[in-house]
Amino acid sequence: MNISVKTGKFINLQTHLLAVFLFEETRSVDGWLKELDSITGNRLSEILRMRDFKGELNETLLIYAPEKSRIRRVLLIGMGKRREFNAEKALQVFGTASRAARDKKLKRFTLCLAGIDAAELTKKELAHAAAEGAVLSLYQFTKFKTEDKKKYTTVNKVMLFDLRRTHLEDLCAGVERGKLFAEAACYARDLASNPGNVVTPTYLANEAEVIARENGLKCSVFDEKKLQQLKMNALLGVAKGSNEPPRLIILEYNCGNNKADTIALVGKGLTFDSGGISIKPSKKMEEMKYDMCGAAAVLGVMKLLKQLQPPVNVIGIVASAENLPGGKALKPGDIVTTYSGLTVEVINTDAEGRLILSDALAYTIDTFKPDAVIDLATLTGAVIVALGHYATGMLGNNPGMLKKVMNAAQKSGEMVWELPIYPEFDEHLKSDVADIKNSDGQGAGTIFGAAFLRKFVKKTPWVHLDIAGTAWDVKEKSYLPKGPTGVGVRMLARLLKDWK
Ligand code: BES
Ligand code: MN
Ligand code: ZN
Repeated sequence: MNISVKTGKFINLQTHLLAVFLFEETRSVDGWLKELDSITGNRLSEILRMRDFKGELNETLLIYAPEKSRIRRVLLIGMGKRREFNAEKALQVFGTASRAARDKKLKRFTLCLAGIDAAELTKKELAHAAAEGAVLSLYQFTKFKTEDKKKYTTVNKVMLFDLRRTHLEDLCAGVERGKLFAEAACYARDLASNPGNVVTPTYLANEAEVIARENGLKCSVFDEKKLQQLKMNALLGVAKGSNEPPRLIILEYNCGNNKADTIALVGKGLTFDSGGISIKPSKKMEEMKYDMCGAAAVLGVMKLLKQLQPPVNVIGIVASAENLPGGKALKPGDIVTTYSGLTVEVINTDAEGRLILSDALAYTIDTFKPDAVIDLATLTGAVIVALGHYATGMLGNNPGMLKKVMNAAQKSGEMVWELPIYPEFDEHLKSDVADIKNSDGQGAGTIFGAAFLRKFVKKTPWVHLDIAGTAWDVKEKSYLPKGPTGVGVRMLARLLKDWK
């Protein structure tokens, strides 16, 4: 999708649809709206006076301009109350406009930035949100649709329009960044949308190699033989019930400054999670193809680093396997010796994410000695009990890091909420026969999962993001169409770029 910026007068603008954004406080046509009103048939003043359009968040009203007008339609979009407007609401309204334009089968439309001035967002952030909102909202996964192809309209050009030239540079920079972030999130969505018979651990490894080649990153892929040499028995154990071999995938981005911090991003990549011998109920089991959304987010971020040029070195690690019940599968009660040397009693083969991550985290910290580690995982159903589908559960061992992630998430319009890892949970982890066990069923499943992972990160500053509630199935919004969300990509991209 092409996104461009144009500045000038309404009179010189030619477009099939101009989306114009208004706050609730706008009750009459004055200032910049006057010119627009006069060239589109003086309907705005009537509409506002009669209160047929109130400016409520995501409210829309479509106006057809007189035949002579070069602006063929004006779509009014409400932004709600001015003081409540923020980055997330910006995504909503730009998404609403984009979807409305696509519903009209338009392949091109224009988003008007005039009038959003008073909000707390800078012009650059506003343009960023516009580009992100457009790309994220227009996402559709049609790869396997062979019928009714005509139902799907592909928008190919979005124009951002502003009256004054003063901020042109900022607007262009914002657009570029927003498009980059959103396209990476859509890449993660694509990986997730593809079914488990397409996206396998081997497939993810191939994708990583493509990303590396296209972006000048270093890529290493560990196959079963290598994993055996390294004694990654937790990852190997989870994969044993499946014919799909596991993979540990490592991508390295070097920012060129050897004094810079190194951040490791670790993703859970279960390309399908049946639960294994502790098998899941059939209801909604098909959704477990999404159990690789953490991995997808990591690959999405690695894909944009060359263009983003963050001031840090970044290691992207994906631990990938398929969890199936087979003749060789792990059984409840089995004990595995992890890469770190800690032994784990597998109480529940469905608590497999923490097993594969334990090897990935310990190996990452041993090998790269990162200054910080962030893992993303669809780890527990319990996080949905705690936070619904609204916020990603965030847990960690370092207040400074937690704050950084929270900040980046807020600026991206992605919600995270911190949960505590009480020291008491180290007691819960204890096994009668091994060092620790992978599940206890005593409640607070999300915290238990994090306490388990903490055993493998020790003192390294670490944040765990449990995205089981936010990676898909979230409340649909204009910029979050049904299906996987690509959660994590945008907040982490921002975190890395703004790293201090
Ligand atoms: N991938 C699941 C978690 C999950 C469940 C994500 C539902 C999204 C929706 C994970 O591997 C899992 O099965 N976790 C178990 C842990 C339990 C056995 C301790 C869970 O949450 O039930
Ligand atoms: Mn599971
Ligand atoms: Zn899982």
